[in-house]
Amino acid sequence: MRARALARSFGRGSKALAALGPVDVDIAPGEFVCIVGPSGCGKSTLLRIAAGLLRPSAGELELRASADRPAAMIFQDYGIYDWKTVLANVRFGLDVQRVPRKEADERARSWLARMGLADFAGAYPAALSGGMRQRVAIARALAVEPEILLMDEPFAALDAQLRTILQDELLDLTQTTRTTTLFITHSLEEALVLGDRVLVMSARPGRIIAERRPPFGRPRTGEVRATPEFTALKAELWQLLRGEVAGRADAGPPHPTTKGAVPA
Ligand SMILES: Nc1ncnc2c1ncn2[C@@H]1O[C@H](COP(=O)(O)OP(=O)(O)OP(=O)(O)O)[C@@H](O)[C@H]1O
Ligand SMILES: [Mg+2]
Repeated sequence: MRARALARSFGRGSKALAALGPVDVDIAPGEFVCIVGPSGCGKSTLLRIAAGLLRPSAGELELRASADRPAAMIFQDYGIYDWKTVLANVRFGLDVQRVPRKEADERARSWLARMGLADFAGAYPAALSGGMRQRVAIARALAVEPEILLMDEPFAALDAQLRTILQDELLDLTQTTRTTTLFITHSLEEALVLGDRVLVMSARPGRIIAERRPPFGRPRTGEVRATPEFTALKAELWQLLRGEVAGRADAGPPHPTTKGAVPA
């Protein structure tokens, strides 16, 4: 993936809102890139442009796939179909790819099992909790074994334990298949565990203001969370981000009472 001077605004004339950019990014095949940034800075906008759901206002984004494997996107708000069963939702991408019914069912069921949803194959999304719905969306995206994975806060609605388990599962999966992944998260910890690179975005209109490479080799496991390098890098990223989260205008020196408090 290659973005050059990519920008997007919404609305026209004096009411136009500059939402994103200009942004330059290169993501190599097999690379796992995480993006963190304050709410409303344009992260989902960037992902929607990458997914071809939104056109840039300026600049360009090029996504080059080698095979006929699809790109898959997991939306921040799930994007699953309420009128399809859980199994049919997970099978959806495979049906589109014309995978034979029996094989599609098997692959979908195996992903449901990995997501702890084996017993809910026949249920409708309305009967699921928020975290369960999100797991259906994850299973649906992973079932097509995409060449490029675009994930917009996929674990945000999950409890901390399940989130850790799925982070480790995703590590395992992307390291085995070398899936090129663009992953948006609010959790610095998640970005550091998963990413080859972590990009930090500014407040809106979001630009990339810093880049860090977690110093953990591949294949890696969730054990990196317990290392001193991890803690140090997390604190460093938070220092970069806190001024942006607080609003650029009053991004002065750290407030004495909150200094050192690094959120997850
Ligand atoms: N379709 C749209 N029409 C008008 N404004 C939009 C549209 N989509 C996004 N925006 C605006 O663009 C800005 C960036 O939105 P975006 O959803 O990309 O932010 P985000 O970084 O993903 O935020 P969050 O972390 O809260 O998900 C916001 O101010 C939002 O209101
Ligand atoms: Mg978003």
